[in-house]
Amino acid sequence: MNPTLPTLAKRVAEAADLVTVALDELLPRADGPESRLTEAMRYAALGPGKRLRPFFALETGRLFDLPERSVLRAACALECIHAYSLVHDDLPCMDDDDLRRGRATVHKAYDEATAVLAGDALQTIAFEIMAHPDTHEDGGIRADLVRRLAIASGAKGMAGGQMIDLLGVRDDLGAVARMQRMKTGALIVCAFELPLAMARVKEIERAALLAFGRDIGLAYQIVDDVLDAEGDTETLGKAAGGKDAARGKANFVTLLGVDAAKERVNHLTDQIKGHLEVFGSRAQYLESAVDFVLDRRT
Ligand code: IPE
Ligand code: IPE
Ligand code: MG
Ligand code: MG
Ligand code: MG
Repeated sequence: MNPTLPTLAKRVAEAADLVTVALDELLPRADGPESRLTEAMRYAALGPGKRLRPFFALETGRLFDLPERSVLRAACALECIHAYSLVHDDLPCMDDDDLRRGRATVHKAYDEATAVLAGDALQTIAFEIMAHPDTHEDGGIRADLVRRLAIASGAKGMAGGQMIDLLGVRDDLGAVARMQRMKTGALIVCAFELPLAMARVKEIERAALLAFGRDIGLAYQIVDDVLDAEGDTETLGKAAGGKDAARGKANFVTLLGVDAAKERVNHLTDQIKGHLEVFGSRAQYLESAVDFVLDRRT
């Protein structure tokens, strides 16, 4: 990388700050009794997340010189969906987790009903943010952004993948890969789709970024499953110690073992970087983000 450019870690941290500040402004505060709900929403969304999906969206926006305000709002909408997915994922009826981002999960800090409602309201505010004229002046593009986010979040994306995860597909790596691509990959691909929907882009570049998103989305969830098996709860900020295996989850680690799962990530890593060749040095932050993201400990 060109030594005069900010390091990747700095660039990722700057993107995370941008998103946290923007979310702080976008998320409501209330005075009445409903303040319990708005506080729980803020607790869920403003906690110390990595903001990986917004980082990908912002980098894609920069590749095509898109207005940062538009991409940032779309990235915030996507991050609200992600935060909602985590609140519901942690509920006792799903993964039953007490720790998230190093703090009590929303249903522990508040209560289950509040966590359900906070997830609901984070989901709807995502669409409120996206549909607002400040996100894009062209109503047709706004409708397209809303539709893409809805598809990525719903039965054919994240929510559908969560359903398959809970049912526990067995002994079928293809089915596990499909579940991972839906529950985690769909929102990661969406981080590329949203800015692409605002840009005039050569088809080959669009296809390259979507392929990058698809493969890094799958690899990201495999790494998450490896960290569940051998990560450290304190560093990770969420439960580890083989909780997925104990709960009977089917994923690459529980089906193949940690070493074979890591081998898959290594194999995917070269493939993921290869997708960016069409951009030459223009996508250097995205390229260096691959190792940064997949070598994570948190
Ligand atoms: C956690 O997502 C759930 C998965 C899809 C693996 P992240 O690892 O992006 O969590 P935060 O947002 O940084 O907390
Ligand atoms: C969750 O996968 C993916 C979501 C859609 C929230 P996990 O259940 O493995 O995520 P963590 O480990 O709780 O963050
Ligand atoms: Mg889960
Ligand atoms: Mg979970
Ligand atoms: Mg996990």
